[in-house]
Order: sequence, then structure tokens, then C-alpha cells
Amino acid sequence: MQYSTILGIESSCDDTAAAIWQNGKILANITAGQAVHEQFGGVVPELASRAHQSNIIPVIEIALKKAGIDGKSIDAIAFTRGPGLTGSLLVGINAAKGLAMGWNKPMIGVHHLQAHVSALFIDNPNPQFPVLCLLVSGGHTQLLLVKNYMDMEIIGSTLDDAAGEAFDKGAKLLGLPYPGGPHIDKLSKLGNPKRFHFQAGRVAELDFSFSGIKTSLLYFIRDNKEENPNFISENLQDICAGYQNSIIEYLISKTEKAIQQHKPASIGLAGGVSANSGLRTAFENLSEKHDINAIVPAFEYCTDNAAMIAAAGHYLLESGESTSFNALPFARG
Ligand code: KG4
Ligand code: ZN
Repeated sequence: MQYSTILGIESSCDDTAAAIWQNGKILANITAGQAVHEQFGGVVPELASRAHQSNIIPVIEIALKKAGIDGKSIDAIAFTRGPGLTGSLLVGINAAKGLAMGWNKPMIGVHHLQAHVSALFIDNPNPQFPVLCLLVSGGHTQLLLVKNYMDMEIIGSTLDDAAGEAFDKGAKLLGLPYPGGPHIDKLSKLGNPKRFHFQAGRVAELDFSFSGIKTSLLYFIRDNKEENPNFISENLQDICAGYQNSIIEYLISKTEKAIQQHKPASIGLAGGVSANSGLRTAFENLSEKHDINAIVPAFEYCTDNAAMIAAAGHYLLESGESTSFNALPFARG
């Protein structure tokens, strides 16, 4: 392997992360979150860039230290080039450029969503292709047919909100902190998932629509609060469990449709929402039902992290790619 040690850097949204990949193993995977956004109920881009700026160097230093590696032993630097918040991406790109120049090593820009898919291969380096991947994050919801490590086709995507947004916006309506997904997950474990049902958008084939489900939660809360002002606090666990279960059933039904249409060799679950315990169980059940191998990454590789960036960088570098020092970030794509 030409590039046996790779530093990965991720800064696309509100997590500053660095990881060390060496010959297929992750030696360190460090992420600094940004509590500053909690009080605003969502990510504030300017504050995110500033927090990245203060975190990026310490996070890289901690990753190198944890891996027991001197910067000069790094063979290449992988960084998230997009999509994401431009100011946040710039911090990671500039850190990568500075280190690549200082160490005289190549760098490789990585597509954030491709990297989420690469997370599948960190602990499963030789999957059976094609892998049908359900990618569910805060910004994207897609079904992808992954034919090889870096060769993937989008076969379904959301027409409006992402699954993570449905969790976060639903949590906000219930008065839970941002990001709401993990809070809904935790409360759902104590509730009855069958008491309340919320309808997600009915859209064709393998596409998704999540804007309707949060509106249905909004009206449900409004109507019930008219009769009982304490309705949320008295029923919070059941509301969370019903809302989460409705999202999961919707995601699973679309994935099942894709299995029937595309007959993949394996199925994989990626992106921040794949940390959801109910979704993980439902995904495993789906794989048993269809007698198909399921790849569900470890929690630390689900939400935004730099291990997946380093892993994606490895596949790109091995295929002969590299990125020039003139590279700019891309916000969408
Ligand atoms: O992949 P990610 O870390 O960032 C993006 O690329 O968007 O995904 C973040 C999303 C947020 O919407 C967050 O609420 C959701 O992942 N999330 C969860 C859980 N953990 C994170 N959603 C449901 N259950 C969880 N346990
Ligand atoms: Zn992400």
C-alpha cells in the first residue's frame, strides 16, 4: 500500500474531527462537538466556523498523540471538501493544506456522503457487492446502490427534509434540545410505539418525503393541547416512541422495496440517524427477513467523524486520485 498512514479531517457541519487510519485500522478517532449551538436550537454557521478554528489543531494533535504517531509519518491527508457549510469546510481544508505543505505530503478531498458510505467498510473491508445503502443523516436521506468502494448510484432520495431533520424538528416541537434525534431515541425506549402513528409523505417508488410527518406531529400536539395543556409532558415517551417508530417503518418500507427491485448482495446503514437504536434493530430484522447480510457500522462511525473521511481518502488515493492545493470547498452536491 502506497499510503499506509492517513490523517482524516472532518469539519463540514458542527463537529470538528480528526482520525488516523493505518493499513485498514483506525488508530484514533477524535471528535469535538460544539455545545454553543444548543441554545439556538440549530447550527449557527458563523459560530460553527469559529469553534472549528479553535478546535481543529488540538483535535489533530490529540489524534496523533492517541495513535502514537509523529506528523511526519503521515503519508497523506484526507479532508471533507463538501457538501457542508462553506465557512466550516474552509477551516478543515486550510488545515489540510497547511499540513500537506509543511509535511510535503499529498492531500485528497472527500465527498462527505461518500465518506458516510465508506464507514460501512471500516470494520467490513470485504463486503459482498452490490451493497444497498440506506444513508440517513441530518442533511440527506438516500438509497444508494454501491457497486464498489467508490462507485455508487443514487436510486432514491428525499424530496424535502432529511430523516435527521424530521427527528430534530419533531424534537423541537416537543421542547427537547438540539440535536433532537438522540433525545427522541432515549425517550422512545420507555414508550409505547403503537399508541400514536404519524404519516410520512406518500411519494413514488424509492423517494422519501419527511416534511409532512413533522406537520402531522405539529397538528397532533396543537389539537391535544387544546384539551389538555399538559398533554406533552404527560405523554412524552409514547409520543417519541410513536414518532420514531413511524419514521423507522417508513425508512424500512422503502429499503424493502429497493431490496425487491435491485436484489443487492448486502444491505448497509449509514449516516447520523443510523445511530438510532430502533432503526438498527429494524434493519437487522429486515436483513433476517430477506436472508441478506447487513452492515451496520459501530456508533462512532455513524454520526459525523473523521475515520470515515480517512477511509474514503484511502480508496480514492489507491485509485490514483489526489487534490490540488487550489481546491475550494463545495457547499452542495
Ligand atoms: O451524519 P450526521 O452526524 O451529520 C450530517 O451529516 O447531517 O447526522 C446528524 C443527524 C442529526 O439530525 C441527529 O439528530 C441525528 O443524526 N441522530 C440521530 C441519533 N443520533 C444522531 N437520530 C436519531 N437517533 C439517534 N440516536
Ligand atoms: Zn454527515
